[in-house]
Amino acid sequence: MTDPRTISELVSDQRPGWSLEQRLYTDPAIFELEIERIILRNWVLAGHVSELQEAGDFKVVNVANESAIIVRGKSGELLAHANVCRHRGSLVCLAHQGNTRKFECPYHGWMYDLDGSLLAARSMPAEFDKGPFSLHAVALEVLGGLIFICFSDRPPSLAGARADLARPFAMFGFENLKVAAKKSYEFAANWKLAIENYQECYHCASAHPEYARMHTLMLDPAKRSRVQQEMRKRMSDCGLVDLNIDFIDTHARPDEQGYGYSRTALFDGYQTGSRDGRPLAPLLGELTDFDGGASDFTVGPFSFLLAYSDHVVAYVFTPIDATHCKCEIFWLVRDDAEAGEDYDETELTWLWDVTTQADKRIIVNNWRGVQSTYYRPGPFSAMEQMQARYITWLLQQLADDKL
Ligand code: FES
Ligand SMILES: [Fe+2]
Repeated sequence: MTDPRTISELVSDQRPGWSLEQRLYTDPAIFELEIERIILRNWVLAGHVSELQEAGDFKVVNVANESAIIVRGKSGELLAHANVCRHRGSLVCLAHQGNTRKFECPYHGWMYDLDGSLLAARSMPAEFDKGPFSLHAVALEVLGGLIFICFSDRPPSLAGARADLARPFAMFGFENLKVAAKKSYEFAANWKLAIENYQECYHCASAHPEYARMHTLMLDPAKRSRVQQEMRKRMSDCGLVDLNIDFIDTHARPDEQGYGYSRTALFDGYQTGSRDGRPLAPLLGELTDFDGGASDFTVGPFSFLLAYSDHVVAYVFTPIDATHCKCEIFWLVRDDAEAGEDYDETELTWLWDVTTQADKRIIVNNWRGVQSTYYRPGPFSAMEQMQARYITWLLQQLADDKL
């Protein structure tokens, strides 16, 4: 039977502390609204400045129906252009990354400069003015060496994130990292299920034996706070700072991109997220010792980073369409670390590759069940509070009396 409720009625009917109703995952009108209200209005982590060092270095980033070319311009600035030809709309750049002097549309050969301006358009009338036909600009900002893009003319401010995260970014030397490995995982599932899964560790004990050996986030909140006390002692010994930034507060600030930071202890014997607990790469940034902690960063609704003392793992979850999404993972190490000498790529990527493969199975199973006629929302546990907050934020974005 068709649900007669408007989207706004559906949104306000959602029970706090429970999973969402089926229609929030399966109704194409909801996905359209998410595109407009969430996907195009928020910043997405697009990579690290070290990936684009020379003029003409570029990469293409795709989010739902949008595609952006990020390129290092002739005078060294980073730029983002909509990857949509101003002639008849073909994608201009089909390569994922590379180095070029100009972008040539594969359809009829219109040619664009690195700064997006139209250089040449074959067989157009002599009076044709190329001036107004530059590629559209996409908003780009760099935060701690991380490149963020936003497909909106009025993106939310990153000022709060820039100010509050400056200290931890400096502590781990974020600006002086390099991408040691990248992997992309596609999930046949609605994008929200992938992010919700990342937000909770209720599933970690059963689904992630590797992760659960070392990360105390798999403990319930009371047990975890006991382990945290121990880490605070270790942290003051080696000079690391425990900053707790509550991103719900910042989500509530209008026009400000939400962000978060927290630091948790690993289990005893684990210096980093490695198979045997031993270091995987040289210490990062200002760190002088391994304190056995791991820091979680969130910037906006799609991008999450986990900083160990010797490497950073960045996760970006974005929709492909209403029923498919992707998780892109970057592993970052100090920029002077040598592959094979200072780190081993297989060991570096082991934990989060095996964990993400397991998450893929969980998320796809979740999606299959959520589409059943028997699916009903269920109550969250004490270990799913981050997910509950994320859902609250999502519903706030979708809520509008006019719908
Ligand atoms: S669509 Fe690009 S040149 Fe025609
Ligand atoms: Fe997981």
